[in-house]
Amino acid sequence: SGLKQLHGQQVTGHLPPNITGHWVSNSCEVRPGPEFITRSYRFFPDGSFQALQFYYQDPECSEPSYSLLIRGGVRPLQASWLVRGGAVCEYHLSRVQLLCHGPAAALIQRRLRSACDLRQPLRPGLTYELWDERRDCTRGLDFSMQELQLMRLERSGHHGDPSRQIEELFLGDVHTERAQRRLHQPAGYQTPLQSAKVSSERCGVCRIVSSADLHHPPVLPARPERPVRLQGDWVSTRCEVRPGVLFLTRQLTFHEDSQTWTGQYEHFSDPVCRHPTFSISASGRYSRGAPSAAIGGAVEFTFTVTHMTVTPMDEATASLLKVLRGRACGSEGSWQRGVPQDVTSTSGCAALGVRLPHTEYELFSMGQDPSGHSLLYNGQRPSDGSRNHRRRKGGRRDEPVCVCMSESVCECVC
Ligand SMILES: *[C@@H]1O[C@H](CO)[C@@H](O)[C@H](O)[C@H]1NC(C)=O
Repeated sequence: SGLKQLHGQQVTGHLPPNITGHWVSNSCEVRPGPEFITRSYRFFPDGSFQALQFYYQDPECSEPSYSLLIRGGVRPLQASWLVRGGAVCEYHLSRVQLLCHGPAAALIQRRLRSACDLRQPLRPGLTYELWDERRDCTRGLDFSMQELQLMRLERSGHHGDPSRQIEELFLGDVHTERAQRRLHQPAGYQTPLQSAKVSSERCGVCRIVSSADLHHPPVLPARPERPVRLQGDWVSTRCEVRPGVLFLTRQLTFHEDSQTWTGQYEHFSDPVCRHPTFSISASGRYSRGAPSAAIGGAVEFTFTVTHMTVTPMDEATASLLKVLRGRACGSEGSWQRGVPQDVTSTSGCAALGVRLPHTEYELFSMGQDPSGHSLLYNGQRPSDGSRNHRRRKGGRRDEPVCVCMSESVCECVC
């Protein structure tokens, strides 16, 4: 299983990270909006970088709409106190160039018009300068490189088997509200980029992305749409990071017949998930909603939590819970390390950020890893910490707030 793999693996993080090299997407990435994007970033030993971002019209990344070539400099400053294991960096831009592919040019032209006067109409295949010290035309695209403010470099591998060596570069997350992107301080990560050198044997998409340039965007092969089927057991593919200093692994089971689910959430204090702090077991019901209008192949679901236990896994967490008074989290003063307690009667455990009962709207889609294992993707949590409850507020029947797919399994408790 994925969890066993996780434990057999030796993962090391490096601070400050030496990010020199060529880093590429290993899939068609989805950002809030939705935007469909692949990335190919080069970092040079002198601290300069050259980042290619390729945007698409479709969730398969097979129809390029425009590409950006971003140049600038970036420098790691210090270890992040907000996200353990991450490095805080500062960056500057020196140049942003745009090139449109095909019919998307007219649409991009409209979006740019509000931000600046481009002087000439956009033509497919020609490059345009969007940014220099005096002029910023990137606003119309909600363009931002704030992702460079937080990074983490991970190397993992199995002894004596170089073919399973992995080098991944995690860059900061992108705010789920487009208008907030340009000021966003990342507190989590996007899907990691792969080292083009290390991954090219194993990863077909990485090969396609790494050989692309501004004029020749990567065109990913269209995949057959995979129907969303939750039935069965799902485990995290890695030690996951949540904004707000949480590291966790998830194990979820869905029973489609009875429309019930159970989840086991192991929380850790460190970015490679070795030091457990507390675990949560939850269960409840779910129901399947409509196919997503925004993201082809994704389906909306509604989740409720009906039952929950918490187990403190270290002394620090047990002590924290023990001093809580009243009906804050389970029965007052009774917590012990390793002993689970039902927190259903206290509506969860506010001290650990776990509330219940509540309803969550989720968006799921399915994918496949290179070895043919099924992957289950869920929508990114709203960056402002709110829940996916927009549909309840507005009478309109619309998408969940977030439509960005993050790697691995779903998250139903927040
Ligand atoms: C970072 O790695 C590159 C090669 O990948 C090397 O040339 C460079 O000297 C390294 N920089 C530091 C500061 O170690």
